[in-house]
Amino acid sequence: MIRHRRKVIYLLGFMGSGKSTVGKLLARTLGWPLIDLDEVIEAGQGLSIRDIFENSGEPFFREIERAALTEASKTEPVVIALGGGTFAQPSNVELIRQAGGTTVWLDCPADVLRARCQGMENRPLFRDEQSFAQLLKERTPYYDLADFRIPTEARKPEEVVEQILSLRVF
Ligand code: S3P
Repeated sequence: MIRHRRKVIYLLGFMGSGKSTVGKLLARTLGWPLIDLDEVIEAGQGLSIRDIFENSGEPFFREIERAALTEASKTEPVVIALGGGTFAQPSNVELIRQAGGTTVWLDCPADVLRARCQGMENRPLFRDEQSFAQLLKERTPYYDLADFRIPTEARKPEEVVEQILSLRVF
């Protein structure tokens, strides 16, 4: 039986992997709307991600992230740029599977990710090199559950979009 894939593309990957940038370009190319989960969360709370973490802690952030993901998954067609931790929560992996879209992991080498995240103010989980490496290690087995892995090293966002479109699954 051929599974019907809903026209929902989830972009996932570690912080700095280019989800938002590629998401914008992919959505524009397809003529689909983009939902950037972090932006939705910030708009909903009227606070930056950093302030949400500082004021209310990560468990609260994960709760509202899940609510935003649930809501976003009802849209079709849509490109959804997840946060770096969204697909590393088992219950979210399940929710996304149930939603029946396509998951695409933007896989980027650790040193490139680190260089991109350094000096960025709005990434509360980017503390130091060691915890960064540890988090990446813990999350990679989850990212590996994605339907597709796109190596993004040294690729321009346009090329990454080309690659995603060439998957021809939607
Ligand atoms: C997070 C990544 C961030 C944001 C929040 C938590 C994470 O998104 O959702 O700071 O757990 O890795 P980006 O991947 O867009 O930076």
